[in-house]
This record gives sequence, C-alpha cells and structure tokens, in this order.
Amino acid sequence: MVVDVAITGELRASCVNVVGVYSDGSLSPNAELLDKELRGAIKRNLKNLEKRPPAKLFDTVQLTTEDDRYSCVVLISLGEPDKKYDRTESEKLGAAIYKATAKLDTDVVVGINAEDLHLSCDCVSAHIAFGALLKSWKFDKYKTEKDKKIILERLFVVSKNVEKSNEALGELKAIAEGVFLTRLVVSEPANVIYPKSLAEIALKELSPLGVEVEILGADEMRKLGMNSLLAVAQGSENEPQLAVLRWNGGSKSESPVAFVGKGVTFDSGGISLKPGDNMHEMRYDMAGSGTVLGLLKTVALNKLPVNVVGVMAMVENMPSGSAQRPGDIVKSMSGQTIEVLNTDAEGRMVLADALWYAQDRFNPKTIIDLATLTGAIVVALGHEFAGLFSNCDELAEQIYKSSLSTGEKVWRLPLTEHFDRGIDSEIADMQNIAKSNIRGGSITAAQFLKRFVNEKRWAHIDIAGVETSDGDLFICSKGSTGFGVRLLYDFLRENCAKQ
Ligand code: BES
Ligand code: MN
Ligand code: ZN
Repeated sequence: MVVDVAITGELRASCVNVVGVYSDGSLSPNAELLDKELRGAIKRNLKNLEKRPPAKLFDTVQLTTEDDRYSCVVLISLGEPDKKYDRTESEKLGAAIYKATAKLDTDVVVGINAEDLHLSCDCVSAHIAFGALLKSWKFDKYKTEKDKKIILERLFVVSKNVEKSNEALGELKAIAEGVFLTRLVVSEPANVIYPKSLAEIALKELSPLGVEVEILGADEMRKLGMNSLLAVAQGSENEPQLAVLRWNGGSKSESPVAFVGKGVTFDSGGISLKPGDNMHEMRYDMAGSGTVLGLLKTVALNKLPVNVVGVMAMVENMPSGSAQRPGDIVKSMSGQTIEVLNTDAEGRMVLADALWYAQDRFNPKTIIDLATLTGAIVVALGHEFAGLFSNCDELAEQIYKSSLSTGEKVWRLPLTEHFDRGIDSEIADMQNIAKSNIRGGSITAAQFLKRFVNEKRWAHIDIAGVETSDGDLFICSKGSTGFGVRLLYDFLRENCAKQ
C-alpha cells in the first residue's frame, strides 16, 4: 500500500501538521503563522527542547501543544535559511516527511509552500507530495506478516493555488504509477518474472490504457533472423519474447521515439557461468525492459502527444545442453556476424537484434536503449550515475538536462574508433567481448550496440549501477529504484511532445 497524497488549501485541525524551521532556529513563514495562531506555543516548545532546533537538514521534532485543534505539530528542518530548493530537493523533503510520519495513524498535513523554500513556482507542493508517494512504495508482497508499524494512510500538502497544484500532482501521480510498475517487475524473482509472464504483464497493464501491445515468440523471431537474441535464449526452458508496445499520441505522419530495454529475466552467465556469490541479483537483469514498461504506462496515463515505441527484449540466460558455447558464431538480424567469446556478455547480443528490429521496422527519429549491461559501469560511476553513451551531442544534452531536473543522474562516457577496433574479430565481423588489451568494458559494450543502430540518432543508458539500491535512498527504500521512468518521461515531455 502506498500513501494517498493530495493537495489542500490550508492546515487542518485534528491532523498532524508539519511546518518548517531553519537550521538557525528561526521558523519559516508558514510556521510563524501557525505559531501566532497557537499564541507562541511552537516557540515556547522549541525553547524547552534539549536538542534545539532540529538543525540537520530534514531532522524532525514532534511537539505537543495545548490547542485542541493543533495538538500535534511536527517541525522539520529545511536546512540553512537560504538553502536553494528545486524540484528534486522538494521531492527529497516530501520523502523525509513521509519517513518521519509513516508510523502515525492520523492524517498528515504539510504546511510548507513555495514561500518557505524561497521558490517562485507553486508546483512545489505537488513535488513534496510526489516525493512522499515515491518513498512510501514497498515490495512486501511475499511477507506474510506485513510491517504493522507503517500505517499512515493520507498525506496532504498545502498550496496557495490548489487547482494548479492538483493538476501538477495528477501528472506526477501517473509518473509514480509507472515507477511503481517498474519497481514491481524488477523486484519480482525470476521464477515469477520470465519472458512469458513479463509479456503477459505488459499486455494486461498497457492494453487497457490504449497502448498497442504485440508479442513475438521464438518462431516469429526466427523468421526475422534474430539469431543473436535467440542464441542467448537457447539454453533456457523459457521461450524468449519480444514485446512491442506502441503509443500513438502524435500525428500519423510523425516518426516515433523508440525505447529498447534489455530484458534478461535471469542472467546466470550461461556456460560462462557467473560466480555464485551474488548471482541472485541477476534477477534484476530485466530492469531495462521493466523501465520501458513503466515509461509507457506513464506516457499512456498522461496521454502524451507523441508517438512512442517500446521494445522489451526478454530472454533467460541459462547453461544447459542446448546453451550456446563460447566460440560459437551467430548471424544477427542485421546480417553482421558475432563471435561469442563469453556467454555472459549476453545483453549486447539481445540488444543487437532488438535495436536493429526497432530501427528497421519503425524508422524512429530517436532510439534510446536501457540496459543493465556491464559491471564495469558500477566501477566507473558507482551507484550514483547511470552511464550515458550517444552518437549525437544534441540528444546527449537533452537527456542530461532531464537528468538534472529529475535528479535521475547520468554521466556521459565516450565512444571512439579505438574502442570500436577493440571488438573486431579475427574470424567474424565482431566479437562479443573486447580484446584483453582494450579496457573500458562499458564503452566497448556500447560500441558493440552502436554497430546495430544503423547510424540512427541513438543513446544508450547503462543502468547496472542504479537500478537497485542497497541503502535507503531519498525517494525510495532499499531495492528496485525504478530509475529511468522519470528521466525519460521528462525527456519526452520537454523535447518530443507537441505542446
Ligand atoms: N548483467 C550483467 C551486467 C551486470 C553486472 C549488471 C553487475 C548488474 C550488476 C551483464 O550481462 C554481464 O554479465 N556483463 C559482463 C560482461 C563481461 C563478460 C564482458 C560483466 O560486466 O562482467
Ligand atoms: Mn551477463
Ligand atoms: Zn546480463
């Protein structure tokens, strides 16, 4: 269960009201107003506190007043009196407020608005609510005993312009729906999420929203010559699936923006078996497809006026008697041949055909793929940034801008001839891992993909480091983050949708 968030015009009696205090102990403008209403009770309370004021950013303290209407007030530190807030910071504030109040059984009202945060835009209230909503999602469906302490049901945020804030919150709630769907399918284990079941979810979730969903099985892919993708799948009992999602929000003549997601529902490494230690984490290896799914849900819910194609390329990478072997050579749909030197470099083989298919069939004006492609990206950028690669500076810039405004961070890495030479094979057109003297594993993987986009305007986002979190991030708890839905929705909205 997630918290129900809404906008309201003013503080409410017999709720827990949250107001702001700065690190120097001064009350924010709206807290001052409440303090006056309570005849100085907040300030008196603050004086008597042992640890005062709650100075560290987002520290909270709960006060009890004698006023029946506002008996419980929570003060939250908004940081330095002149701290600059933006969308992302406001969302973090909302998440912090949710975290501090999740165990309450009365409704929470957040009395913090643009004035308290030195912002001119009123939509801050919606972003505070959005932050709380994102934070409240939890993957607990397999817990027979749910956490009984997390009981907060409703959270309101005060706004001076209720109508406008409601409108903003409506769009943000649809984004949250997409993020939650992504988080859910990424969190599910590989015995529940496999190519067919994930395709089924795409059909069930998206068709009612007006998205055309088409599912291709192994036979259809064989006819198309997708031997690279099929080679990865051939060791598994689970049939591979390609889900093609189409949202036709733009005009008929407009060529679409295509999103392609790596959907390896479990990556054991194949015959080049992975070590056992953290192998279970490879159930997350379909996060690229999961993000495409969530993104299309959001796009459809908000009826974005743009044509979007989503391709979810779903396979399971397993070792077996029928699995591909190191040394095998396959001919991809593009006609280019691949020498498979390591069956654990399977993501690029899956994407090779999915990218080719997407550009060949839809002639998209832009094609963006998302993939948990390399462990090397985690070495380079940690869990803070996704790796961004592109053959187009303008596109990279647009994605980077969306990354700044949504807080889903990306960092661009280079693509060059040197790295491209690194994947030339002696006996085929290319090999699926680079020669050992060429390092930069995330770059050589991206170079591989680049050979399958047919010079189209393209970007690749390596999300291996950001698609889950092993700590408590601001806007989500431990586990799947849903990274990419907010980023790419913003990208579409700002650059592609006809206003
Ligand atoms: N799915 C993995 C990449 C990965 C690693 C994702 C860690 C999330 C966390 C990918 O298929 C893989 O195995 N890549 C290999 C490539 C290597 C064989 C060239 C890797 O990164 O080790
Ligand atoms: Mn692998
Ligand atoms: Zn993989």
